[in-house]
Amino acid sequence: VKTRRYRRRSVPLIETRRHLEPGPAVLVTSAWRGRRDVMTMNWHTVMEFTPALVGCVISEANDSFDLVRGSRECVLNVPQRELLDVVVGIGTTHGTRVDKFARFGLATEEGEVVKAPLLPQCYASFECRLHDARLVKKYNFFVWEVVRAWVSPTPRRPETVHYSGEGVFRVAGATLRRDVGKLL
Ligand SMILES: Cc1cc2nc3c(=O)[nH]c(=O)nc-3n(C[C@H](O)[C@H](O)[C@H](O)COP(=O)(O)O)c2cc1C
Repeated sequence: VKTRRYRRRSVPLIETRRHLEPGPAVLVTSAWRGRRDVMTMNWHTVMEFTPALVGCVISEANDSFDLVRGSRECVLNVPQRELLDVVVGIGTTHGTRVDKFARFGLATEEGEVVKAPLLPQCYASFECRLHDARLVKKYNFFVWEVVRAWVSPTPRRPETVHYSGEGVFRVAGATLRRDVGKLL
């Protein structure tokens, strides 16, 4: 195939995230010892199909850190673009200072397995239990096992929001299909 060769130039390493961060931005809910919180998070990665493992970085500077570490549970809720301003609001305020559920008009539902609330204004919610905490100390990296997955059948192609830093979001776009065999 004839495709364009790009003339790349060396750029500051901090720009790496702009190109590799895949998103989608998710809202992490947590509950512990009578407190609950919600934060925005996009440093996550799928790690395994079965068990369904997802790793993510939750900074110790966030109030949510204590709740997810203490309870060893969380819910990953996936919003669409209609919630973008809420996603930003939740990602720029701290749970010990504001009740973000009230401030941003978040409805909540109880999960089946974990204590953290599900957000029904998101088209998908994944109840997670901590699978491996070994990288928390070093990198604030939590490995979660998804133990219940709640996904609305519509929309079929959710308009998820993908963050590349510096206030720039992109919305999931065209859907393309290719044969990749059975395993992928
Ligand atoms: C688009 C976006 C993505 C973010 N991604 C992450 C992330 O991956 N990890 C993280 O620790 N904080 C991330 N944040 C920052 C937290 O959401 C933010 O610090 C929030 O205020 C924490 O809330 P809390 O203190 O109530 O836990 C992100 C914020 C935004 C706006």
